[in-house]
Amino acid sequence: MKVVQTIHEFKALNLPRPLGFVPTMGYLHEGHILLVKQAKAANKTVAVSIFVNPTQFGPKEDLASYPRDIPRDLAMLEKAGTDVVFIPSAAEMYPEGYDTWVEVEKLQKHLEGDSRPTHFKGVTTVVNKLFNIVMPDNAYFGQKDAQQLLVIMKMVKDLNMNLQVIACPTVREPDGLAMSSRNTYLTPEQRQAAPVLRKSLMLAKEMYDKGERDADKIRAAMIALLKTEPQGQIDYVSIADTGTLNELKIIKGQALVSLAVKIGKPRLIDNIILG
Ligand code: PAJ
Repeated sequence: MKVVQTIHEFKALNLPRPLGFVPTMGYLHEGHILLVKQAKAANKTVAVSIFVNPTQFGPKEDLASYPRDIPRDLAMLEKAGTDVVFIPSAAEMYPEGYDTWVEVEKLQKHLEGDSRPTHFKGVTTVVNKLFNIVMPDNAYFGQKDAQQLLVIMKMVKDLNMNLQVIACPTVREPDGLAMSSRNTYLTPEQRQAAPVLRKSLMLAKEMYDKGERDADKIRAAMIALLKTEPQGQIDYVSIADTGTLNELKIIKGQALVSLAVKIGKPRLIDNIILG
C-alpha cells in the first residue's frame, strides 16, 4: 500500500483502471471499510483519501478536536486491500490565496444545511478537488450522510463529471447506532441513549408499513419517542422528497426520513428511506 502526501506525487502515479475512490476524514470504522470493500470488489485499484477538511466545519464546530489516528487508519486500510492512500495537509489543499468554491445551491440548503450553513460548500469544493486529483472512475459514499450523497450526485451530474457515484448502505453497531467517527465523543451514558435515533426511524418505518402516509403524524410520533430520552435535544426530524429534499405532507413515492439529535454535546445524524 502506497501512502502519498502531495498532489504532484498522486498525479504522477499511473494507476491501473478502473480506479475506485473512497474520500474520508479518517478515524475509520467499519462503515468506511465497507466502502473500501465495495470499491475493491468492482475496481482494479482502490484509492482512499484521509483529509479533515477545514472548510466544511463551521466556526463553532469540532475541527480542532475531530478524532485522528493515522497509524490505526493505515493498518485498517491495508487489511481491507487499499492500494493508495492520499493524506494531504491543509496547506497542500488550500494554499494561500485559495479562492474557488463549488456549490449545489438548492440541495445544500435543507436539513444539515439549515444547522450548518457553510458545510456543503466545503464538502462539494473538497470532493471536487479530490476528484480532480484522483480522477476516479467510481467514487463511493455512504447512505449514512444521505444529504451529502445527494449533493455529490447532483454536482457530478450538473458538472458532467466523468465518474459514477456509488451509494453504500449504513453500517451499524449491534444496538442499531449508525457508526460514526464522532461516536467516540459520547460518554458511556450518552452512548446508551444514542440508539434512540435508530428507534425513532424504526417507528417511522413501522407506521409506514402499517399504511400511514401522513408525514405530520409520523414526524409527531418520532418527536414524541425522541423526547422520552432526557439527554436528547432534537435539531430536526424531517420527512422529505428524496430528489428535492422538500418536506412532505403526504408520502406518495419514496421519502427520506432523517434526523439530527444532540446527545449532550455530540450531534448525531441518521436516516432511512421509505417506499
Ligand atoms: P467521513 O465522515 O469520514 O465519511 C466518509 C464516508 O464514509 C462518507 O461517504 C460517509 O457517508 C461514509 N460513512 C460514514 N459512516 C458510515 C456508516 N456508518 N456506514 C456507511 N458509510 C459510512 O463524509 C465525509 O467524511 C466528508 O464529508 C468527505 C466526503 C470525506 C469530504 O470531506
